[in-house]
Amino acid sequence: MKEALRNFWSSDADSYNKAIKSTLHSVNLKKSWQEIFTEVLGDNKLKILDVGTGPGIVALMLAELGHDVTGVDLSEDMLKNALKNRDALSISVDFRKGDAEHLPFNDESFDAVVNRYVLWTVPDPKTAISEWKRVLKPGGKIVIIDGNWYANENSIKRKLWHVFSLVLVILTERKNPLTSNLDPKLKNKLWSIKASRPDADRRFLEQRGFKDIYVMDKINRRTKNLIEHLKYGYQGDTFLITATKA
Ligand SMILES: C[S@@+](CC[C@H](N)C(=O)[O-])C[C@H]1O[C@@H](n2cnc3c(N)ncnc32)[C@H](O)[C@@H]1O
Repeated sequence: MKEALRNFWSSDADSYNKAIKSTLHSVNLKKSWQEIFTEVLGDNKLKILDVGTGPGIVALMLAELGHDVTGVDLSEDMLKNALKNRDALSISVDFRKGDAEHLPFNDESFDAVVNRYVLWTVPDPKTAISEWKRVLKPGGKIVIIDGNWYANENSIKRKLWHVFSLVLVILTERKNPLTSNLDPKLKNKLWSIKASRPDADRRFLEQRGFKDIYVMDKINRRTKNLIEHLKYGYQGDTFLITATKA
């Protein structure tokens, strides 16, 4: 399953980079994300791991805030774009190949572990969260950002909005949006398809002994401008959940 997921993400690497890179070049979008990270992580300069960094957008935004950031990803094609984005901005981030469930780092190496839009395709979220806890220092923070991407998939409203969004994506990103579709067989094997999130994430964190668990719902209202909302809002709301390693 992991190989199939890696192939999916690699095949989507350039298309995803095109869609998401605009965050780095929009003063307002970047500011919104950086404000959220400062709210949950504080002002001190931290050693942060961005798991499933993809084209490195979150890692680069955090590094710009002065943090010492490492980004890991399973897909070399995603990492190629992360390196290009890093070079274009001349910001220092250590990008490496690595698996979210078996990280190439010693115990207690980081003050914070962040991940955005990653956990939903990780085969075993409990293993991943245990692994993220392992590399966190005591008192360190975990930040999970994700969505219920396929909720209400069969509603008429969502279907119509999706068609409208395909046209907008073609016009604004000049790409074929259908290349980003996950194979339905693979999609149906994902734990997140049947889960109610962020309740499920909260339970995983509680079971692993995290404390001070805090959920921010509908963060898309702060992190998406009108055009982003029209293009991707059909996928539903996104949430952030943060917790501290005891
Ligand atoms: C939707 S992209 C999100 C990228 C980035 N976090 C962002 O917010 O733009 C999901 C990323 O997670 C990576 N990924 C998925 N499963 C992974 C795993 N087990 N270990 C490491 N990276 C993984 C994919 O290769 C892809 O780059």
